[in-house]
Amino acid sequence: MILRWSLWNSSVIIIFFIVNRFVCAELLHKCDIEENNEFNDTEIGITISPIMTSNMIREIGIYWNNSNFRYGDNLILFKYHPCENQSQKLFTFTPQVSHGFKKTGKKADFIPTAQLTFDDQCLYYYATWVRDNVIKKMTCLSTHPNWMNKRKKTLGHLKMRDIFIPGTHDSAAYAKFKDPKNDNIVEKYTITQDEDILGQLIYGARYLDIRVGRYPNDEQMYWGNHGFVKIIPLQVIINDVKKFLKNTNEIVIFDVQEFPQGFQTLHDHHHLIDYLEREFADYLLERPVHVWKTTLDEIWSTGKRLIIGYDNSSIVLTRTSVWPYVEQQWGDVRTIGNLYKHLNKIEMHAATGDHSYLANQFSKPRAAMAELTPTFFDVISNWLGGLRKMADRVDINITEWYNSKWHNTANIVAVDFIKATGIINTAIKWNDERAARH
Ligand SMILES: *[C@@H]1O[C@H](CO)[C@@H](O)[C@H](O)[C@H]1NC(C)=O
Ligand SMILES: *[C@@H]1O[C@H](CO)[C@@H](O)[C@H](O)[C@H]1NC(C)=O
Ligand SMILES: *[C@@H]1O[C@H](CO)[C@@H](O)[C@H](O)[C@H]1NC(C)=O
Ligand SMILES: *[C@@H]1O[C@H](CO)[C@@H](O)[C@H](O)[C@H]1NC(C)=O
Ligand SMILES: *[C@@H]1O[C@H](CO)[C@@H](O)[C@H](O)[C@H]1NC(C)=O
Repeated sequence: MILRWSLWNSSVIIIFFIVNRFVCAELLHKCDIEENNEFNDTEIGITISPIMTSNMIREIGIYWNNSNFRYGDNLILFKYHPCENQSQKLFTFTPQVSHGFKKTGKKADFIPTAQLTFDDQCLYYYATWVRDNVIKKMTCLSTHPNWMNKRKKTLGHLKMRDIFIPGTHDSAAYAKFKDPKNDNIVEKYTITQDEDILGQLIYGARYLDIRVGRYPNDEQMYWGNHGFVKIIPLQVIINDVKKFLKNTNEIVIFDVQEFPQGFQTLHDHHHLIDYLEREFADYLLERPVHVWKTTLDEIWSTGKRLIIGYDNSSIVLTRTSVWPYVEQQWGDVRTIGNLYKHLNKIEMHAATGDHSYLANQFSKPRAAMAELTPTFFDVISNWLGGLRKMADRVDINITEWYNSKWHNTANIVAVDFIKATGIINTAIKWNDERAARH
């Protein structure tokens, strides 16, 4: 019985394979796909640059790492799946080295959040490794709205401290629609993301770094701020988080890290927490006895999946709805070399498992803040060109470093303009490796 079933099964697969090959080949020669083990370790990823100029926006980049690299191999970028009717070759490139990064000079379409769903999607663009006119490996610009829940069986026994979590720095300081012509000096130094909160979560971020401004005389009392600049009403951010939690089974850290405006008394904090408690009543997880030592499975078993971190210990002592905030590890650096040194130091420190180290004491997660920080003078002089240029300078390297050096120690990694990095794919990949080892 088993034998017959498997024979039947494999012939179906073979027929399907032949038909599939035939249909693709029939339509377009470019759709010769033959993914095999030889290329299973090959990495390819697609990035979207935050840089805006009068003639370029959302420039697509491709990074690769192929130990099986051969001269004459090509990287080809397609719009639409290469087997689809309307598929177009946008860009072809012949790599000269086994790993690297290449900007393509091609603009990605603007993708409104309304087009993003709660299932994995390939968003139009496909990067392929091509040898002898055959596609050996293919990846797409993808969303990951369920990456944690999909790994419930393998990651469930771990703590938030033990997994690799992609995050956004200053998550509420986003501008999803942007006209390059109107990028003034304030926006140049306040906007850190180009996806709204729902977009960030659907792409795969699970750590949100939230700074709240309090404006008692405004119609909207609470705002998501960057420093003293108010960017987005907190209610909009809350609505996005709720929508995401309602439609998925993911765990999200909403880390209220700073209070740059309007918080004078403890009463002000209690008022904000009352508001968060009301809004998130269906989702927020009361701080458990073992706090950050709680495993993902234990979190899931409560049915509540939102963790609110709060950066005021007097408040945390008196309110059980909030958790001690995540330890953000800042380098305050302005060059890529110094960013490397900072990240290398904290990841090496984590590798030694030194328990006197503050961040490990309570199994509190730590967030490697992987971005450059301008000084006041840099902003005034615009010497660094703005946060978009600063992110573009380092985002691809961060991915490369975390892929090749710090994948065993990484916890939360919080970046600017997350689509310009490959940190989400990198985190997911290495979580799978960690799970396999545990
Ligand atoms: C890739 O293929 C090789 C050889 O078949 C195998 O040993 C290895 O485990 C595979 N790696 C992955 C990530 O699947
Ligand atoms: C393929 O393209 C043709 C012409 O552009 C169009 O009429 C047809 O519907 C397309 N087929 C599919 C499956 O998209
Ligand atoms: C950053 O990445 C780029 C592209 O891969 C590479 O050319 C450059 O050398 C890297 N810089 C550092 C400091 O690692
Ligand atoms: C908590 O907030 C109050 C009011 O803003 C402030 O006075 C106090 O220093 C804060 N405590 C901590 C530990 O941050
Ligand atoms: C490239 O992949 C190899 C083998 O999989 C790995 O050892 C190396 O660290 C990777 N390099 C980068 C820059 O990702």
